[in-house]
Amino acid sequence: MSTVTIIGSGRMARGIAIRMLHARCQVKILGRNGLQTRALVEELGPGVQGGFPGEPIEGHVVVLAVPYADVKEVILEYGSGLDGKIVVDISNPVDVAGFDRLLTPPGISSGEQTAELLGGGADVVKAFNTVFAATLHEGRVAGEPLDVFLAGDSEDAKAAVGRLVAASGMRPVDVGPLRRARELEATMLLVMGLQVGDAHPHFNWNTALKILP
Ligand SMILES: NC(=O)c1ccc[n+]([C@@H]2O[C@H](COP(=O)([O-])OP(=O)(O)OC[C@H]3O[C@@H](n4cnc5c(N)ncnc54)[C@H](OP(=O)(O)O)[C@@H]3O)[C@@H](O)[C@H]2O)c1
Repeated sequence: MSTVTIIGSGRMARGIAIRMLHARCQVKILGRNGLQTRALVEELGPGVQGGFPGEPIEGHVVVLAVPYADVKEVILEYGSGLDGKIVVDISNPVDVAGFDRLLTPPGISSGEQTAELLGGGADVVKAFNTVFAATLHEGRVAGEPLDVFLAGDSEDAKAAVGRLVAASGMRPVDVGPLRRARELEATMLLVMGLQVGDAHPHFNWNTALKILP
């Protein structure tokens, strides 16, 4: 049984943990807010353990479930402790002050920045940024399994994350190399902007992006 470590104890940590439990993984949640982490561990039940960021990563896959602005701090804190791991970048670097621009510099994605920070010691997979936290509880919207788009330069790492996604009842969709994270992140600027706007009241945080049929 594989272990997935999640750094962060917020909404996405909860949603991804639920799906990973469905995939029969052990889950380790490393949250800096001890009370919140403990509450989440108790809520999720058997198969989940808690800890603090900075503790050694258990398992091969680690999910960075922290805001874009905090990814760098987490990676620097771990240093070589992430070497050899598959690091999953889920962030949406969207300026939520106006939902009108990305916070990344032109021509690079958060996923690629994460890879640069890791200096080649770990394989980065961009995943989960196009699914909303609430929809991960069921892993489905409108009766359909969520599509989880995956971008990464290591085919092995992408395949490993894809297997976890499939085992958790969702559909992995490989969209290509890590540079495709630019389009995945830009897509969410568009979608989140629509959701906070007035034009489409039925677009909300329970919706999903899915390729049909
Ligand atoms: N929410 C969604 O539907 C959604 C969908 C797709 C992608 N995402 C992406 O997923 C990531 C997490 O979003 P979220 O909605 O789960 O946010 P959230 O509910 O605010 O949770 C963020 C978590 O990150 C922790 N954190 C922040 N800075 C940290 C640091 N320096 N070291 C360790 N932990 C730190 C927070 O700890 P504290 O509680 O102590 O602040 C909290 O546990 C973001 O990058 C977001 O763009 C979110």
